[in-house]
Amino acid sequence: MQNSTSIGFIGAGNMACAIISGLINQGISADKIKISDTDEALLSLRKREFNLEVFTDNSELADKVDIVVLAVKPQVLSTVCRQLQSTLKNDTLVISIAAGIRTHDIERWLGGNKAIVRTMPNTPALLNQGVTGLFANEFVNQTQKQLAGDVLQSVGQSLWVEEENMLDAVTALSGSGPAYFFLMIESMTKAGVALGLSEQTAQQLSIKTALGAGMMADAGKESPRELRAKVTSPNGTTQAAIESFQDQDFEVIVAHAMRAAYDRAGELAVELGECD
Ligand SMILES: NC(=O)c1ccc[n+]([C@@H]2O[C@H](COP(=O)([O-])OP(=O)(O)OC[C@H]3O[C@@H](n4cnc5c(N)ncnc54)[C@H](OP(=O)(O)O)[C@@H]3O)[C@@H](O)[C@H]2O)c1
Repeated sequence: MQNSTSIGFIGAGNMACAIISGLINQGISADKIKISDTDEALLSLRKREFNLEVFTDNSELADKVDIVVLAVKPQVLSTVCRQLQSTLKNDTLVISIAAGIRTHDIERWLGGNKAIVRTMPNTPALLNQGVTGLFANEFVNQTQKQLAGDVLQSVGQSLWVEEENMLDAVTALSGSGPAYFFLMIESMTKAGVALGLSEQTAQQLSIKTALGAGMMADAGKESPRELRAKVTSPNGTTQAAIESFQDQDFEVIVAHAMRAAYDRAGELAVELGECD
């Protein structure tokens, strides 16, 4: 993102804070970043943390920036968008990080024909280790697309999808995904305790193993399948465990869970889109 572009965040909560930190770490000047919220104490905190211009009036903020990031909870998004109808300029890029709300609902609430990028970040974004799926509606131009990608890359990696319903698949995979790995860590910890380890030792071993395996996969030298094959010696301990997983249809269990998340994402989008 160029330092001449100004960006305003509506909602000064955890996600906005993570993205602002990321932008500042990338060298974006704090005087190009503005923030609004209904919580004045939180705004004072953000002002102290980042030395930003703060607003209690969302439309006043929207009038002053090139990019508006909608960083409020999905349930209040329709109210916030309607507040922006009269002040949002036609060339302002709107980026929504609100989970589950579709672009045509945001566009309807904003009064139509607006350049909107809908994103699905995940919680590791709070540690700059996120991965975000992005979708652009038909009013977003190439420059704005680049800008939206840059903004979300400040908290990790960003990947575009061509069809909006693919964001439901992103939600089922990386959006909800951190919880799947936390469940794996919990389950491995419990199993380690059952085998005689202390809870603290079992938990530490589980967490560091998840982290190390993730880092090896992320290094990209070999595929996850190749990495797994390498640590699975014939007739060894890992093979015994993997065969036990496979006997109980581990892949089917994962596929069913992600299908449930995908279906629920579609249902929630309809429910949240009806919050008029
Ligand atoms: N946290 C994550 O890891 C994560 C991951 C993916 C997507 N998201 C999405 O990111 C969005 C923000 O999440 P978050 O965790 O940052 O939420 P958050 O910490 O609750 O922040 C939202 C902020 O918006 C404020 N707010 C409420 N109504 C407002 C209004 N009318 N105008 C301006 N500000 C208003 C809230 O104030 P009050 O607290 O006083 O209501 C709060 O300070 C959500 O839509 C969520 O779905 C978050």
